[in-house]
Amino acid sequence: MRKIIIAIDGPAGAGKTSTAKLLATKLKYIYIDTGAMYRAVTLAYLNSKTELNNENLAKTISNISIELKPSDNGQITLLNGTDVSEEIRSVLVNQYVSPVSANEHVRKKLVDIQRKLGERKCCVMDGRDIGTIVFPNAELKIFLTASLEERTKRRWLEYNKQAGVNNLSFDEVSEQISSRDKYDSSRAVSPLYMADDAIKIDNSNITLEQQVEIIYNLAIDIIGN
Ligand code: CDP
Repeated sequence: MRKIIIAIDGPAGAGKTSTAKLLATKLKYIYIDTGAMYRAVTLAYLNSKTELNNENLAKTISNISIELKPSDNGQITLLNGTDVSEEIRSVLVNQYVSPVSANEHVRKKLVDIQRKLGERKCCVMDGRDIGTIVFPNAELKIFLTASLEERTKRRWLEYNKQAGVNNLSFDEVSEQISSRDKYDSSRAVSPLYMADDAIKIDNSNITLEQQVEIIYNLAIDIIGN
């Protein structure tokens, strides 16, 4: 059986994390949520209560440790040894994560960690630049997307489950998602775009299970039975 890397990229709220988690379980592969790593750096930056600039971000990134550990729910994110899995999904982190992620120091450190994590292959990694920058030779690349309305609905429901944190209207959530997409797609370092050899899946009208099945079958074709 071939050992492969599966890269799943796409815009905010496209369902990359849920898809990657289920797919990894089905394949008995490890799952790596690179967005969680950028979110953890963002939380560390917010905790530093400093101005958002290159120097402060360089300081933040050089002083922290970020780990992803498998758990019953898929994965937990540790920042300096503390579990921050819930905090990194807050509205505030969502507001700051794109500018923090556009920083070259932040990207360099996290891409190095991600490449190490994927060294042994057998992993499903999701993010924005996995098939283009982190693993341009990944054996299977998926670009997952959905309409803005559908992606807003999903994020809206997710926020509503987090008691007390959501005071944004549906339109505000939509605006947040589309401005994050614009920021991520137009930044100078590792912008979000679809790799030439990626397979695009629009999941606006299919279920999570259906799309996992589609990607699973594509993976099995490469891995062998
Ligand atoms: O869950 P959602 O799609 O909203 O976002 P995420 O995957 O958790 O990523 C959060 C943010 O981290 C993105 O909007 C990007 O700014 C950044 N990110 C990145 O720049 N590169 C990656 N490989 C993953 C995330």
